[in-house]
Amino acid sequence: MSNSSCLAIVLAAGLGTRMRSALPKVMHEIGGLPLVGHVLNSVVHAGADKVAVVVGPEMAKLEEHVAIRVPHATCHVQVDRLGTAHAVKAAEEAYKAASDHVLVLFGDTPLVKADTLHRLRERLSGGADVVVLGFEADDPFGYGRLLESDGELVAIREEKEATDEERRVTLCNAGIMAFKGSALPDLIAEIKNDNAKGEYYLTDAVEVARSKGMRVVSELADEKEVQGINNRSQLASCEAVFQQVQRETFMENGVTLQAPETVYFSWDTEIDPDVVVEPNVVFGPGVHVDSGARIRAFSHLEKAHVSADATVGPYARLRPGADIGEGAHIGNFVEIKNAKVESGAKVNHLSYIGDARVGAKSNIGAGTITCNYDGYLKHHTDIGAGSFIGSDSVLVAPLTLGDGAFVAAGSVVTSDVPENALAIGRGQQVNKEGRAKVMREMLAAAKASRKG
Ligand code: UD1
Ligand code: CA
Repeated sequence: MSNSSCLAIVLAAGLGTRMRSALPKVMHEIGGLPLVGHVLNSVVHAGADKVAVVVGPEMAKLEEHVAIRVPHATCHVQVDRLGTAHAVKAAEEAYKAASDHVLVLFGDTPLVKADTLHRLRERLSGGADVVVLGFEADDPFGYGRLLESDGELVAIREEKEATDEERRVTLCNAGIMAFKGSALPDLIAEIKNDNAKGEYYLTDAVEVARSKGMRVVSELADEKEVQGINNRSQLASCEAVFQQVQRETFMENGVTLQAPETVYFSWDTEIDPDVVVEPNVVFGPGVHVDSGARIRAFSHLEKAHVSADATVGPYARLRPGADIGEGAHIGNFVEIKNAKVESGAKVNHLSYIGDARVGAKSNIGAGTITCNYDGYLKHHTDIGAGSFIGSDSVLVAPLTLGDGAFVAAGSVVTSDVPENALAIGRGQQVNKEGRAKVMREMLAAAKASRKG
């Protein structure tokens, strides 16, 4: 099979009216990735060397997303939505060029695994002409039913055309089919729209294939893996399944999740073994955590890297470009954006560090802020190794602090600080002897006169 070529056709033209959204249905996200992106990842992993996506008119965002995920994929516009076989026909240009295998998938069925697609392809290599992926449905309503006779798949009957007896069948069509490439063009050409909806059903390919003496078989998948999304509540239940799979996978790979059901992952989260994740942590896209790090409760991470043995949180926010060095500490109510916090440095309380470098072993006092933005441009702050920034300091970028610099608490630092220098940038304190007592007497008198 490894030598056989494979075209994947992903149908994504549906508007998904039940989503009640301005977005094409397949652009809604699971684990931070559009539904269609999940399907594209699976087909690429299953060895599809050509990918064709059938889109609706004016779905530029969808076409852009496809181009990012699979640069060599082609998009084909289906102008009128006349059914799933009609949608496949929109990609005729792609399937009339020879491929050994053609997989047809729906963009709204995001959780299908590459392994399952592999199994379909193996059946084709084993001599089948058409393979249908089926599943046992808890509630089969709305799905096409797989009708079998003597162990052979003879037809798929859509809900609308099914007899009462056929409706009782719980073996359903997952919507994913595999075809011998040479067979597909004739099958699609012969499908008619003589049904209740007046649509061209891809599912009719089963009967057409059998009438031509072809071998049609089915493969089984778990219902969770093939659940489709037609509304927001199905979107939420797919998200739940996706998160559950992620949690299990991380735990199997040696990550400790203290309260797995409270941790949310992205499709691309990477966590090495022996990382501990405390409860209520959210991983946005693009996070990598190295072995030995600890992500403490209620933290939010996005496009960030946490090195070995570092601690993040509780209540920390790592925004895009945060790079936390080995053994560094990021504490509560600290936000880090586009900044490298080098090994052993500590930013423990109530700070904002953006567009910056914090040198190794530096200590950033509570409430320190980098002023990186003047309303027009972003500026960089470079803090040397072994520096000490006193609490509540404001570092006005662009700014460079040499190694070993010391900033007095409460300073507003606007000019560079040389190596090992002490910077004090604040109003000078004045003490007035005995004045507190006088003031209290004045204030008490004022209060008494009001009451009178
Ligand atoms: C389809 C199957 C049904 C199966 C179910 C699984 C058909 C006729 N029926 O029904 O057997 O059990 O999926 O979820 O195939 N699409 C287009 N253009 C069209 C029509 C559909 O691109 O003209 C796309 C949609 O965007 C969607 C997919 O095809 O991604 C499936 O279409 P949908 O209308 O949701 O089919 P179902 O009624 O769910
Ligand atoms: Ca559907």
